[in-house]
Amino acid sequence: MPLATVLTGGAVVNATGSSPADVRFEGETITSIGENLRQPADTLIDATGCYLFPGGIDPHTHFNLSVGVTVTADDFVSGTQAAAVGGTTTVIDFATQNKGETLTQAVANWHAKADGRSFIDYGFHVAISDLNETVLREMAVIVEEAGICSVKLYMAYKQVLQVDDGALLRTLQRAKQLGILVCVHCENGDVIDVLVEEAKALGHRSPKYHALTRPAAVEREAIYRAVSLAEIAGAPLYVVHVSSGEGLRVIGDARERGLEIYGETCPQYLLLDASSYDTKDFSAAKYVMSPPLRTPEDQAQLWAGLRGGSLATVGSDHCSFNLAGQKELGRDDFSRIPNGGPGVENRFGLLYAYGVTTGKIDIHKFVAITSTNTARIFGLYPRKGVIAPGSDADIVVWDPAVPSVISARTQKQRVDYNLYEGFHQVGQARHVFLRGRQIVKDGILSEKPSGSYIKRQSSLAKELQQCSSSH
Ligand code: URP
Ligand code: ZN
Repeated sequence: MPLATVLTGGAVVNATGSSPADVRFEGETITSIGENLRQPADTLIDATGCYLFPGGIDPHTHFNLSVGVTVTADDFVSGTQAAAVGGTTTVIDFATQNKGETLTQAVANWHAKADGRSFIDYGFHVAISDLNETVLREMAVIVEEAGICSVKLYMAYKQVLQVDDGALLRTLQRAKQLGILVCVHCENGDVIDVLVEEAKALGHRSPKYHALTRPAAVEREAIYRAVSLAEIAGAPLYVVHVSSGEGLRVIGDARERGLEIYGETCPQYLLLDASSYDTKDFSAAKYVMSPPLRTPEDQAQLWAGLRGGSLATVGSDHCSFNLAGQKELGRDDFSRIPNGGPGVENRFGLLYAYGVTTGKIDIHKFVAITSTNTARIFGLYPRKGVIAPGSDADIVVWDPAVPSVISARTQKQRVDYNLYEGFHQVGQARHVFLRGRQIVKDGILSEKPSGSYIKRQSSLAKELQQCSSSH
């Protein structure tokens, strides 16, 4: 019989409700929730005054991603260490196909980066950059053999990752056949290229022109196009990192018409705005990401989108590059600044501090958007995303009273800045359990990686329906 642990005195919080209760788990699995669960040999952990949340699930990370000229600062070691201390127990990273590669090769490359190094559980989406007949056939193989039930396409990053509308439609049609989900980066890459060339011809070189050459209309148009193609294919669609109110409205309208469209946003679009680009020095390069930061009005609309359900999840889009040596590659030309920022460590805590404690979202919505909806949408539920008998014992013992201030000096993310430097937080992951194993104890991370690759199973029709009605 495996050893059992009982968490006592806390309040179990799921997406659907909460109640004061003890949680008992044996080995990797939750066995019971209720009162007086302790048996003589059990380990007892006092969670008095704490919330017991399902472990966070981040649907959007880029660890150890090469962008040609450089590689992201965080790999699967530092990225998942950072995730763990922040309360995230599963990430779904993008296994990104290089041109000319098969999907099987892309997945093998990602296993080589992640296996044996991850401190938390992980799955992969496959990002397709080079669609052809072989790849369309192979999509069945990655579902069956690799347990990957979501792919991603980019409508931006011309010459590198961008696919055309034909490729997007064919992928949606194939995904519909296979019952899997297409995620799309929605920005019009052709238009961005023209705007970038025009800006540079006028001598504009500083980081803020990254944002000025990617206006919200570029996102809105691409979301509208992707939604239209999904409608033609009769396939569901997941729009990653929605940054603007305009883009969000397209998703809301489509959902009102009954289309299965799911939106994700990120903490940076909820909490930071385009004024960050107004520096005289190069430090604004820290905020060069795609899509760029928007306005306070956009932020308010995104929060409303989370409350109303047009946005189902919050991912970090963690894609970190050091300011020194990496972002600096674009010191004289904003279009050469590697795109992306860090955030996997802070996603969970920021949403608690700036969402729940400010009243922008309630605590059940917090669980839904940080964990449960992602599990449902991406084929992890009910193994993950809920505290229930039979589920993995992925549990965050969250102390709501602990204050802290975010700083790059104290973070686990292996990058030389933090987007939220100086932000005050309240609430902290006191203990974190991954399949019953304690990986964070009193805020201190375990020394060895114990994360496993998780095969996911498409359960789209059933789970997406649930997700729609519950978020
Ligand atoms: O700027 C970003 N977001 N970089 C990461 C890749 C992507 O576009 O998601
Ligand atoms: Zn991304």
